[in-house]
Amino acid sequence: MMWRSFIYKATACSLAVSALSVTHHAKADPLGDPQRGRYLAVASDCVACHTAPHGQPFAGGLAMHTPLGIMYSTNITPSLSAGIGHYSLEDFKKAVRRGVRKDGANLYPAMPYTSYSYLTDQDIADLYVYFQKEVAPVDKKGPVTALPFPMNIRFSMAFWNMLFLNGKPYQSDPTKSAEWNRGAYLVEGATHCGTCHTPRGFLMQEDLAHPLSGASLGTWYAPNITPDAVSGIGSWSAQELTEYLHTGRLHDKAQAGGGMGEAVEHSFSHMSSDDLNAIGVYLHSLKPVSNPQEQASSRFTQGSDVNPAIKLRGVVPIMDHNDDAASGASLFMGNCASCHGANAQGSKDGYYPSLWHNSVTGASRGDNLLSTILYGVSRSVEGQQAFMPGFGGKSGDAVQLDDNQIAKLSNFVFKTYGRPGVQVTPQDVALIRKGGPASPLLLLARVGMAASAILALILCVVLFAIRRHKNRNVA
Ligand code: HEC
Ligand code: HEC
Ligand code: HEC
Repeated sequence: MMWRSFIYKATACSLAVSALSVTHHAKADPLGDPQRGRYLAVASDCVACHTAPHGQPFAGGLAMHTPLGIMYSTNITPSLSAGIGHYSLEDFKKAVRRGVRKDGANLYPAMPYTSYSYLTDQDIADLYVYFQKEVAPVDKKGPVTALPFPMNIRFSMAFWNMLFLNGKPYQSDPTKSAEWNRGAYLVEGATHCGTCHTPRGFLMQEDLAHPLSGASLGTWYAPNITPDAVSGIGSWSAQELTEYLHTGRLHDKAQAGGGMGEAVEHSFSHMSSDDLNAIGVYLHSLKPVSNPQEQASSRFTQGSDVNPAIKLRGVVPIMDHNDDAASGASLFMGNCASCHGANAQGSKDGYYPSLWHNSVTGASRGDNLLSTILYGVSRSVEGQQAFMPGFGGKSGDAVQLDDNQIAKLSNFVFKTYGRPGVQVTPQDVALIRKGGPASPLLLLARVGMAASAILALILCVVLFAIRRHKNRNVA
């Protein structure tokens, strides 16, 4: 937790002084302004991936469980021996915008360089000066990523980049307002909302035909945030979106858990209201996308505070949490009611949210309810902590529920307070508990590699034949 409060204080201070010190710093370094760089690093959430739990800021070593295996983020402190102290501005530009390391090796797109490719030259220079001058060097390398064949051949990413990497920094659209352009720049580039909210295509690329229409992250599901009135967030006012991004909660609608909770904590809550408003202006101008499962009614309006389907008074709270016979209702009374209330109405001050009119219980899929129960919620914004314990048996969880109990409990919650038709099975719980479905991509990649090897061989034979043919003609 130490590093979190460190970053907090660091950011709060920097934001406070940045307005005063801009001209001073601009003079101090001809390349860029470290205070602007710091703000951009916060907006881009570099720290989230480049810091291990309890590790030093930007020293890397965070294990990221991807469908292809474990990837480790690297040390991007200005250490000469372990970090990027030896990177020139050009090297840094190439890494952040094109995904190529100083030694020429390709980075995996777990580093969101496809989004950062939109960053302008000046913003990259500001970031560079910030990392070189203001980040404390850490002389320790983290674990090395070793993916299975053929993903260990980094060069294969060059082909992926040819297909999916945008070539140019953000180009302003002169027909749109300055605010819209700022929002587009932030959403597409720095804050990389699409990394989580845009569904992925066949080769793990972002499906740009349906941007921000909702995507599974393995455990959590990042919902549709297009302006569709029913499937998306078209019913939210601009002010509501700003409040949610700033605090991570919006009364009677949604809370931010999982990766969204982290993004709010480290990034969005530190951004200026102008920038958050600009994000809203841009999002509301996008093409609305309607999801088939959430066409009839919005996830924000399920359940009701007037007439909860079941009055739980009289149900005996269970003491033995491993009781197999416990019903969903008594599991709810025993584990959830103490905070969310006996009728799931939440607390008056809004600290404990109600479980109706709640995007998690109103969703058409169980992912986020299962992830909430398994992993809990922990988000701290401006010194205020939103904390719900997990029930998945991680260290620190007071109570551990098994797959069968969590399935029963979730089905009860959906039916009683949320979207009644949603059903989850103990197998669904087991899958989310182990981090989500494995990707068929590895198998595909292997087949793909074999196919391209054969293709390359055929090409060689053809070229050889053509050359021989030409040579013969010349002779
Ligand atoms: C979503 C996670 C994520 C975010 C956010 C992120 N990175 Fe990375 N970054 C990674 C991972 C993972 C790697 C290592 C990839 C690999 O080994 O191929 C990496 C590698 C790098 C490298 C290459 C360093 C080296 O020599 O290995 C640089 C430079 C870098 N990131 C800078 C940044 C900056 C600057 C930001 C913010 C603007 C940022 N990253 C945000 C995940 C992230
Ligand atoms: C690291 C992944 C990640 C990033 C980056 C991210 N989100 Fe999210 N977002 C999520 C997840 C997961 C949820 C669901 C959280 C929950 O219900 O607890 C979510 C929820 C939301 C919601 C609430 C929707 C609902 O139905 O509850 C909004 C609005 C939202 N995100 C907007 C954004 C915007 C705007 C950005 C970029 C500025 C962004 N998100 C970036 C993962 C992400
Ligand atoms: C110790 C108090 C406590 C207990 C016990 C508790 N919760 Fe929570 N719950 C919270 C808090 C605090 C939040 C987060 C509010 C916020 O994000 O601002 C929360 C959030 C949630 C959310 C919204 C999560 C999101 O990310 O959108 C759901 C759904 C939920 N709880 C369901 C449950 C269920 C089901 C149980 C029983 C297994 C339970 N809670 C037990 C305190 C609790």
